[in-house]
Amino acid sequence: MVNEGGSLIGKPHVRVDGVAKVTGRARYGSDEPIIRPAYAYLVTSSIAKGRIRGMSLDGARSVPGVLDILNFQNVGSQAKAPLGPDGGPTTTTMETDMIWHDGQIIAVVVAETYEVAREAARKVVVDYVVERPAATFDSPGVQAEVLKVNAGRGDPKVGDAAAAFTAAEVKIDAHYTTPTQHHNAMELFTTTCVWDGPKLTVYEPTQFVWGTKTSVAARLGIDPTMVRVVSQYVGGAFGSKGPNARTAWIAIAAKRLNRPVKLVATRDQGFGLHTYRAETRHHVKVGATREGKLTALMHEGWEVTSRPSSYSVSGTDVTARMYACPNVTTKVNVVHADRNTPGFMRAPAETPYMFALESAMDELAHELGMDPVELRRVNDAQTDPINGMPFSSRSLMKCFDQAAARFGWSKRDSTPGSMRDGDWLVGWGCATSTYPCYLGPAAARLSLAPNGKAMIQLAGHEIGTGAYTVVAIVVADRLGLKVEDVTVSMGDSDYPPVAVAGGSNNAASTSLAAAKACEEIRHRIAKAAVQAVGSPFAGGNPATLTLADSKLAGPGGKTESLANAISRVSGGPIEVIAENTPEGLPADTIAGLHQGKFALLGGTARKDVTALAFGAHFVEVRIHGRTGEIRVPRVVSAFAAGTIINPLTAYSQFMGGAIWGLSSALLEATEIDHRDARYINDNLADYVIPVNADIGQVDVIFVPEEDNRVNPMGIKGIGEIGIVGMNAAVANAVFHATGQRVRQLPIRIEDHIPDERT
Ligand code: MOS
Repeated sequence: MVNEGGSLIGKPHVRVDGVAKVTGRARYGSDEPIIRPAYAYLVTSSIAKGRIRGMSLDGARSVPGVLDILNFQNVGSQAKAPLGPDGGPTTTTMETDMIWHDGQIIAVVVAETYEVAREAARKVVVDYVVERPAATFDSPGVQAEVLKVNAGRGDPKVGDAAAAFTAAEVKIDAHYTTPTQHHNAMELFTTTCVWDGPKLTVYEPTQFVWGTKTSVAARLGIDPTMVRVVSQYVGGAFGSKGPNARTAWIAIAAKRLNRPVKLVATRDQGFGLHTYRAETRHHVKVGATREGKLTALMHEGWEVTSRPSSYSVSGTDVTARMYACPNVTTKVNVVHADRNTPGFMRAPAETPYMFALESAMDELAHELGMDPVELRRVNDAQTDPINGMPFSSRSLMKCFDQAAARFGWSKRDSTPGSMRDGDWLVGWGCATSTYPCYLGPAAARLSLAPNGKAMIQLAGHEIGTGAYTVVAIVVADRLGLKVEDVTVSMGDSDYPPVAVAGGSNNAASTSLAAAKACEEIRHRIAKAAVQAVGSPFAGGNPATLTLADSKLAGPGGKTESLANAISRVSGGPIEVIAENTPEGLPADTIAGLHQGKFALLGGTARKDVTALAFGAHFVEVRIHGRTGEIRVPRVVSAFAAGTIINPLTAYSQFMGGAIWGLSSALLEATEIDHRDARYINDNLADYVIPVNADIGQVDVIFVPEEDNRVNPMGIKGIGEIGIVGMNAAVANAVFHATGQRVRQLPIRIEDHIPDERT
């Protein structure tokens, strides 16, 4: 019997790095104490399309303390073009004189101090060849492209949706739009580069240290083993932090000066330096019988991207699988504009695409005169409607039922505009949440010392989610130790590789590798214990020995101290390296990590099951009858996401996701100047996000779920599901309060003017 664990997994535990964080000991990328660094400041393009004819650097060079100025003329040929978030082509920076988008890096000024670098950067004079940019959908000059999505699997499709829609008894045919959004993590985009002879160390916040390492090496044309990337803590990322254009230029700047160079880009520069959530459009057609059974679903999406990239999030992959429907067609288009390349942003595909589907479902429920929860029940499925495979587990209706009960949904009067409280119109809405269960390769180095202390090293990532604590809990659980006995080290490419911390895969991927390393240690101890003459376990079966309460334990209550048990194997600590490649990924996936490939096993791409986590959101909105002000006094969200390693940090993840969903529904949008293809509100004063006063009561329900098919530990992942569907739940509640269907986000006062005010 292997250690089944279970004594620590699922028990709330405070963050093991909590004290380090609140005392300032936790070291973020730009906190690294570097001796005598020079400071970099970026010069970014003030036009969105064209070329650089020339640059006048004399004024900048004359600022005392300026050390160097990099631009395409002096360093352009020294770095290869970067890759986009999908591994495909993307916009370049100083490799050439080309301008692809507003805010593109066009020069790097390096100086003795940050202030000098900033002053000099403002004295760089650029002579542009200016062309008229296309900003977004409908701008003159954009190019549309129909995508063949999902890595060769094509668009999800089943039956004959067009015919079924034509024949349907009840139909919804509607268009929805979602806005541009930027992650705006609290921690800015920083890079510090230090050379030691041919070896480069990069301190930079990243969700993928091995990816940043291999990307920098490839761009500089050096061996990846010469590059080390350190990112022990990340102050929020949400998909924005990974391989990027700036790192190679800061490395080149440090090489030219033979001195460490440190960059902290400004908040506004961050809007153009990195990826973002692109604006999307949707055309959804739903057909159903009078009883509410879906007969047709057609979902077409449009997404903006840059000129060279065909990056898309293609959320139809999930919307096509949400409900039992025999006829489905989907299609995804990208629209190329003069913009930086978008990328992953928390639940990249599901956040916009589920807004469209879940709004349409609510429209259908209203059209049918059916309760929206009952509509989901009638169309619930235990098999994937596209490929017929079973869901690994699906507890969607348990989520709806538990959240509805807690919310008091049965007291809802379904007539829009019928619920009032004094001056306030009251609306109750709900929507489905989902997120695919991704799984990545991971390796870990684990040691167990005779004094019962364990140390584990892996190139995982703490992006604020509680990742250190998850690994510590798993190791303590499987080695029979206390969580406090385990030291976890992550965020360093000198450690064994782990996949990108994205797609909510991190808890599952790192836990599986850590558990495998623990089992290897248990097995070595147990084998030695049964083979040794005079051992209390001599002649026994090693499979019956477990590590528990900091001892080796066997049948009949026999125990032995860890020190004795370990001494048979090693003179000091026992050390193992374990690699875990999830079943369904190619055997060479770990080797691929050494090249920076981030292959993940996707929940909708599996050959055995379709693996998704599910949830349900219920919200109450209150809209003032005269001012139109919207408030959200309460939210109840329920999630079923398999094994929850640490309910304490999981609660924060779910709640944070739900709050971001409210933000996405009511506040957040990056505004674009359509003439100049430029972001207007590129600061935290104008990019509106909720403050405490905007958030009422947020209740989170954990729906227990055991899933032995998603992976051996049943972990589905929780980082992204919290946000999905909340935007639709709010829009559905606004409809219930007012009778006004708002199909574009964010929902603003002018979208739902109450009768009383006009
Ligand atoms: Mo996430 S958007 O995959 O960091």
